[in-house]
Amino acid sequence: MCGIVGHLGPQNSVDVVLEGLKRLEYRGYDSAGVSFISSDNNLKIYKKKGKIQNLIDELADKEIHARSSIGHTRWATHGGVTDNNAHPHVCEDMGIAMVHNGIIENAGELREFLIGEGVKFKSETDSETFLGLLIYNVKQGKEIKEAVIESFKKIEGFSAFVVLNKETSEIFSIKNGAPLVCGMNEVNSEVLVSSDPYALAGIANKIYFPEDQVLCHLSAGNANLLNFYELDGSKSTRYISKSQSMDHNPAEKGEFEHFMLKEIYEQPELIRSLTQFYFQGEGKESLEQAVDLPRTNLHVTACGTAYYAGLVIKDFFEQINRIPCRPEVASEFRYRDPILNKDDLALFISQSGETADTLAAQELCKKTGMKTLSIVNTEGSTLFRDCNVNLLIRAGMEIGVASTKAFTQQVLTGRTLSAVIANGGMDDNLKNSLATKYSLLAERIEELLERSDEIRTVAGEIYRKQGFFYTGRGVYFPIALEGALKLKEIAYVHAEGYAAGELKHGPIALIDEEKVNVALVGPELYEKTVSNIQEIKARKGIIVVVGPQGKKDLEEIADYYIPINFDGLEELSPLYINVVNQLLAYHIAKFLGTDIDKPRNLAKSVTVE
Ligand code: M6R
Repeated sequence: MCGIVGHLGPQNSVDVVLEGLKRLEYRGYDSAGVSFISSDNNLKIYKKKGKIQNLIDELADKEIHARSSIGHTRWATHGGVTDNNAHPHVCEDMGIAMVHNGIIENAGELREFLIGEGVKFKSETDSETFLGLLIYNVKQGKEIKEAVIESFKKIEGFSAFVVLNKETSEIFSIKNGAPLVCGMNEVNSEVLVSSDPYALAGIANKIYFPEDQVLCHLSAGNANLLNFYELDGSKSTRYISKSQSMDHNPAEKGEFEHFMLKEIYEQPELIRSLTQFYFQGEGKESLEQAVDLPRTNLHVTACGTAYYAGLVIKDFFEQINRIPCRPEVASEFRYRDPILNKDDLALFISQSGETADTLAAQELCKKTGMKTLSIVNTEGSTLFRDCNVNLLIRAGMEIGVASTKAFTQQVLTGRTLSAVIANGGMDDNLKNSLATKYSLLAERIEELLERSDEIRTVAGEIYRKQGFFYTGRGVYFPIALEGALKLKEIAYVHAEGYAAGELKHGPIALIDEEKVNVALVGPELYEKTVSNIQEIKARKGIIVVVGPQGKKDLEEIADYYIPINFDGLEELSPLYINVVNQLLAYHIAKFLGTDIDKPRNLAKSVTVE
């Protein structure tokens, strides 16, 4: 979705902002723009629909030396995809430019009021009403800082705003329920703001996560480059800060053609490090706190891939811990008036920690007085800040829009919690037994990754087919759902995940020689699953079996057989099969020539409902 980058400092600000916007491309957008104060002290603005490259091309022959700049990638909500609707929105006469993420819910009535006050609008966006409010407040005689605060107070809905003021070269930012992060490099006297910490990696050595309704003030040339204020103008301490390593650059794809592939290959290493983090490292305390939370019932709420991770985690909690577990997608949960009790535990799973529906569901649970726990990747994200206890999944930055390594780490984090609860606490024996298990999983995944070409060959045979049904039973059912999601989002082909026994209750009507059944077969319920494959085969469906190695019947029934070694993996085997699905989706998408890391219509973090 929309992305924001602002920069103030000695190096050419426009370059920093454009580089930041390029890093945010993975979030999905349809136009981009930048505004800056030129060396002859004019407020400049350039915006273009389409790729950031269009904007870069537009700027290519201009001599630009700017010390402060703001930029934006827009994902249209109000008003079409046009140069004019792109951000920044600017009032040249007053020397003010602004960008916005989110939705201004009362834009209609504000616009009417502002038009009545003589404010002129240039775009169809809701965002421009904030500029209108700034113009109105400045005309009323307010200083820019006060004008930002007063304008912000009038806004309804989840939003983040960044404002560049020409007269003072300052940048202001403020948010409510939308992501915003500030960064600083004291050595270079640089300050930054962005909707995503990824834009700041390698530039800022300290990052700050302000809370809602905290005004961030970025200024150059004095001792305090970055200040935080409350809405009454007093200094604020409502932010968290952390140091950031400067040598880590997650933007590098290295030897890999796509971030998605790189992230699939990172899984073994990440899996191996998880027990260390939770039993001896920084995660120990939060895991202990999580174990102490009340948990008569467990409500698991999330979206997309994170929700499917929740379905796997549900199996752990119900089968191993016998805790009743209710998984639900956040967009439904939040409007359903769910039955929630104080002794229940609300678990939220999210890679970004910024998914609007998941945040709203968390807010709802918090209001009932329930304890809230997150399994989350992004430290400092809104979800991270709002939950009582957070279990970090330690997946590192995930850039591919299709979530891969985050799923694996989410499930393993859930498994770790379930194991500690079952064990009645943490001890070395448990640590060692989990570490051995996780290490076996990592080893098996490494073996699978070595077989990527074999999976590519299967992909090459089936990528032109008209539809895909992923089927599985029990623990493999959520993996079937996740496999289908992965394929449809990156390859743009129709795919559905089904419980293997459910196909004959309707969808089997679709089966013919143009449809593929990716059958996920585990050691449990083996015969029953094979019978389900027979039913598809009898209707001429193409059968891809991902199942136990050395099975004659599978070899006979399958058009393509991807044999795997389940031995010793037990309840972690769904994660193993899932990597086959990740690679299959990747290779099919590659054959179809889609934009794998940035699939059409999708955003990495979905910050609107
Ligand atoms: O950041 P989150 O984990 O909360 O995101 C949830 C979903 O939007 C996300 O998993 C989405 O389904 C992915 N694109 C799937 O690959």
